Amino acid sequence: GHVLVLAGGLSYEREVSLRSGRRVGEVLRAAGIPVEIRDTDASLVPTVLADPPDAAFVTLHGGSGEDGAIRSVLELLSVPYVGAGPDACRVAYDKPTAKAVVRSVGLRTPDSVTLPKETFHDLGASKVLSRIVERLGLPLFVKPSQGGSALGASVVRTAEELPSAMVGCFAYGDTALIERFIEGVEVAVSVLDLGEGPVALPPVEIVPDGGVYDYAARYTAGHTEFFAPARLSPEVAAACAEMAVTAHTALGLRDISRTDLIVDSDGLPHFLEVNVAPGMTETSLLPMAVEAAGDDLGTVCRVLLEQAAA
Ligand code: DAL
Ligand code: MG
Repeated sequence: GHVLVLAGGLSYEREVSLRSGRRVGEVLRAAGIPVEIRDTDASLVPTVLADPPDAAFVTLHGGSGEDGAIRSVLELLSVPYVGAGPDACRVAYDKPTAKAVVRSVGLRTPDSVTLPKETFHDLGASKVLSRIVERLGLPLFVKPSQGGSALGASVVRTAEELPSAMVGCFAYGDTALIERFIEGVEVAVSVLDLGEGPVALPPVEIVPDGGVYDYAARYTAGHTEFFAPARLSPEVAAACAEMAVTAHTALGLRDISRTDLIVDSDGLPHFLEVNVAPGMTETSLLPMAVEAAGDDLGTVCRVLLEQAAA
C-alpha cells in the first residue's frame, strides 16, 4: 500500500501547498511510508481508481482544499483521509461563520461586519465604509471571508486607508470580513488528536520583522521571528490552548487544526480563525509546534494516516 499526499490545486495558496505537500512527503518517506505526492487536478479520480491508496493527507490550502470539496471527492472514492469532514470544513473555512460558532460557545472574537462586494458597490462605498468605522472604530483588520496566508488582508489605521484595503481584499474574494483590530501578540495553537482526543501543542508566538505577518513574512525564511513555545505566562498559555481545543471541538474538526489568535495587553486571547489544512512548510507554524513539543513530524503524520486508515 501507499499513502497519497494531495497538494497544489488552483487556489491562490497553490505555491504554499506544493511546499507543504513536499515537506509532508519527505517526512513520511523518512518515517518509512511509501508516498505519492499529487498535484491535485481531475486526474486524481482515475489515478485513485486504478491504484487506491490506504489513506490521504490533504495539504491543499484555500479553496477546494479547505472548504470541504476535496474531502467530498475522497469520500466518494472511499479514500480515508486525515482531518475534518466536508461539512465541518465548510463551516470552519468561512471565517464569519466560524466566528459565530466559537462565539456561541463563549470564545472571545473581535467584533466584525461581513460585507459582500455587491453590497459595497450598490450602497455606495464611502457611505458603507463610514458607517463601518462608526460602528467598529479604528484600527480595523480587513480580509477576505475565505482564504489564507494573509492574501488580501491588511490593517487599517485611518479611515482614509479603508477604501484601498477593500480593493485589496476584493481582489482575493467576493466577501470581506472587517474586524476590530486587536493590538497584541499573535499566537498560533496547533491541535492534534493522536487517538486520545484533541490536544493543544505548545503555542507559537509570531513576531514579523516589519510588524505585519503578511505573505512574505510567512514564507520567506528569516522574515519573522518565532518563539516556540510562546513567551506567555503559564496561565495565558493555558487559556490559548483551551481556546484552540474548544474551537476545534465546537467546529466538529478532526485530527488536526490550527487556531490563530491574538493575546491582548490584558493577557486575554481573541479567536481570529481556524485552519483545517494548516501550512506544513519549512516556515509554517504546526511543524514548529510539533518540534517544540519534542515530537517528530514524520511520526505525527504517520500516526494520523494510520488512524484514518484504521
Ligand atoms: N493558510 C496557510 C497555509 C496556513 O494557515 O498555514
Ligand atoms: Mg489562515
